[in-house]
Amino acid sequence: MNTNLELDRRHFLGLATGAGVLTLRADAPPTPATPDAHEYVSFLKAKGDPTVSPEGKWKPTHADILGPFWASGAPYRGKVTPPLEPGKLLVVRGRVWSHRTKEPLAKAVLDVWQADAKGRYDFQDHPVSEPRALVGGRQPKKADFRNRIRLVTDEEGYYEYETIKPASYRAGQQVRPSHIHYMAHAPGHSRLITQLYFKGDPAIAGDSFGKNLGAANSPLIIATKNVKTPNGQYMSGTFDLVLAAGA
Ligand SMILES: [Fe+2]
Repeated sequence: MNTNLELDRRHFLGLATGAGVLTLRADAPPTPATPDAHEYVSFLKAKGDPTVSPEGKWKPTHADILGPFWASGAPYRGKVTPPLEPGKLLVVRGRVWSHRTKEPLAKAVLDVWQADAKGRYDFQDHPVSEPRALVGGRQPKKADFRNRIRLVTDEEGYYEYETIKPASYRAGQQVRPSHIHYMAHAPGHSRLITQLYFKGDPAIAGDSFGKNLGAANSPLIIATKNVKTPNGQYMSGTFDLVLAAGA
């Protein structure tokens, strides 16, 4: 007979009948944090507003136009472009925050879509075969989606994707500067539709839609840096989002 097992069994029966009391020894050590949670723990102790880039101010992220090229049901991937897509390699990383709680939002869903290095969307490279054609093309079949993904933020609200820097393109009389479209969803928060732009783009100043929209009116202009590796180099940028409370 295992004596320890008997002891445990008696103790359990005592607890079950109310004869025992659960107490924590005075010298019991605190439960150790898991090794990968330190940044999150330090964040919870932080005072003041979280830092968000490139907007800087703590407010719900500036909204921008949807444009004609969003498509529902994009694949969940961490890489926007297909393999070996021509263009300058770009990695964008950021964090999604709740404006209400000032905490990062885990499992927020982002739609990210963009033009290619020639300034074209996958819509435009599909033949017009239906009367509901949009801007010179039609939505491709899901299996043919290019340069559009969905992704989910991790337990600390972070996301990251690899892509290429999109080219600027002409839209009517206007030249749209290089940009990447975003749509963000999280439970308990309003849907956000916006775009990121690139510092130094000469087309930014002329890109305006009304008083508040377009690159000329946007604080969401990222400054990329070049990162060198033994295998080549890539551009890196940060783009954080803050979602307003809502349905
Ligand atoms: Fe666009």
